[in-house]
Amino acid sequence: MKRPVLNDHIKEEIRDAADIVDVVSDYVKLKRSGNSFTGLCPFHNEKTPSFNVNPQLKIYKCFGCGAGGDVFNFVMDMEGVGFVEAMKSLAERFNVTVPEMESAESEAGYQLTEGVYHALRFAGVHFHQNLVTADEAAHARDYLSKRGFTTKTIRKFGIGYSLNSFDGLINDARSAGINDEYLFEAGLTKYSENSKNAFDVFRGRLMFPIFNAAGKVIAFGGRILKDEKGPKYINSPQTRVYNKSEALYGVHLAKNEIRKQKEVILVEGYTDVISLWQAGIENVVASSGTSLTIPQLQILKRYSPNLLMIYDADNAGQAAMIRGVELALQEGMDVRLLSLPDGEDPDSFVRKFGAEAFRNIRKNDAVDFVTFKIKQAEADGSWEDPLKKQHVISDIVQSIALMPNEVGRETMILHLNKFAGIGDRALFNELGLALSRQSRKTFKSTPDDNDAGRYDTFDPSKKQGHEAPNTHARDLGRDRGESAGSRATGNVQPSKPGVIPGYEKEVIRLMLSYGERMINYIGSNCNPDLFENPDIRAFFEDIITRYSAGEPVSVDHYSGREHPYPGLTGEIVLDRYSVSEEGNRKRGNIIKKDSDPYKTARGAMKTLMMQYLKKLHREFQAASTELTGVEREEALKKQVQVRKELSRFETMPAEDLFAKEEH
Ligand code: CTP
Ligand code: MN
Repeated sequence: MKRPVLNDHIKEEIRDAADIVDVVSDYVKLKRSGNSFTGLCPFHNEKTPSFNVNPQLKIYKCFGCGAGGDVFNFVMDMEGVGFVEAMKSLAERFNVTVPEMESAESEAGYQLTEGVYHALRFAGVHFHQNLVTADEAAHARDYLSKRGFTTKTIRKFGIGYSLNSFDGLINDARSAGINDEYLFEAGLTKYSENSKNAFDVFRGRLMFPIFNAAGKVIAFGGRILKDEKGPKYINSPQTRVYNKSEALYGVHLAKNEIRKQKEVILVEGYTDVISLWQAGIENVVASSGTSLTIPQLQILKRYSPNLLMIYDADNAGQAAMIRGVELALQEGMDVRLLSLPDGEDPDSFVRKFGAEAFRNIRKNDAVDFVTFKIKQAEADGSWEDPLKKQHVISDIVQSIALMPNEVGRETMILHLNKFAGIGDRALFNELGLALSRQSRKTFKSTPDDNDAGRYDTFDPSKKQGHEAPNTHARDLGRDRGESAGSRATGNVQPSKPGVIPGYEKEVIRLMLSYGERMINYIGSNCNPDLFENPDIRAFFEDIITRYSAGEPVSVDHYSGREHPYPGLTGEIVLDRYSVSEEGNRKRGNIIKKDSDPYKTARGAMKTLMMQYLKKLHREFQAASTELTGVEREEALKKQVQVRKELSRFETMPAEDLFAKEEH
């Protein structure tokens, strides 16, 4: 299928030939400053230049808005074209002849993705057609009308029905000329082990398409209809277009309303979203098929930081809500909680009592998490019992300690004291203890636990078991969410003198271990200044130089060279394997390599950048106290810029900070 013609070699040739300063100068007035050039960033509005171009490394970077990359990224972003287009125009401009440009490998990946989207869209239409017209779907139509879903709603959400056969979708898709591969990659079909035949995954189920924010179908949830064995829902597997930890059911219909209302309502089920929407409450999403994750919250936060959680009134629902609250608090969101009357979920409530009643209960009964937990304790009697009450209070303080913002924490402590009435000094002491317990956990965290979280010094979602497998009966039947994503707080330890920080070594290790594409990836995102350790900085520069000259870069090569390389190389390579091997054996784990080295790289680069920004911040801070007049003004401005960039790095996951590697 794939015809890899346009290889890295040609890309490199173009990159080499292209003068990045020349290209950028078409758009930006650049001024030389040392080895690099600076100017006003074309990607955001600014008055003082924080946009940097480095002609040696052939990269650009804006320390104001974070835009950065190589000459290809620049052309793609500036001219709004794809990679192949950018290659073509650069090749032409700098006279590089490129054979068969159109069959670039990145094109193959692009085509597959487009094919998958097409297959999903086709399937959505197919299932919907079944629901509307197929004889077999009579009971499904019946079911929906009994639940009170109108035709308009069914159409809006694209609800469908999958025929109770192994090839209902496949046959229809094939006759429409859709490639089997696309159906498979879309998670719509599977192959039986022995017969190699493809068969439909969804059979005889009510189908809920899951859309991304742009309104494209990316997955399905299939609900059981008859009284038969099998899970209540079958959800699409993770695919190249469906990332469960980021998907939000209903987001495409809700996002504008969330912005307008300045609030997002989070519910548990597909049907809750649909019923509320039908009742005219449109700022609603559900965390489709998994328990809530940090990346989902980060997406919601872009629309609004105000979260109202309404989970089912059963114990499992309430427990899930509490776990969700902790994640949301960590993310700095303003959380309110609403409990519905016993036995109700949002769907049943709004159907039984109507939209007006829903609006009322939402207005009168939604409470902050402190009040919520105290009300819970009052309801189950533990608020009356002094011993139990004490535990309730320290549990609440623990949650307050998760909040990233100090003012927020103090406000909630004072709020808690209104109920607890034990004096705020005791509560602040407890808060102090909780905070220090958390940061102790931070320093003890083992780097091998998880690739994604490796560099994040603090990831309470893991340490506190929010995503621990099957801790709650209700989750047993569900697909487990992806690891809850990663979060870095400001408390990365400063490196001790003489000790090379792990993340600096890790960057070098990745470049030595994963070849040209990785070197290219890291080289486009980092520059030598980022490294604090001078030996590592020299190592990095040496790798980039060799790579640019087309010379081999490998562990072998560096082990055989003069000081400081053999020693350092040993340290860098052994460090990881010996430590993690032993650690893993102790924990009874299978020793794993990087499951996704690029993900690992993004994690390492995030920490590297953050440490660098912190250093810059300290420097500008020092400068602003020493300098006077205009110079002091400049230093203060820079300090603010750096702090902004730093907080961007703190709040965004590594996955979003760096462009994905090209395939
Ligand atoms: N879920 C799942 N797999 C299951 C059960 C539940 O993926 N076996 C997810 C679905 O996203 C579902 C949500 O958890 O929408 C809530 O579950 P539940 O309340 O059981 O389902 P509802 O969608 O509310 O369906 P209904 O109202 O018909 O009971
Ligand atoms: Mn439900």
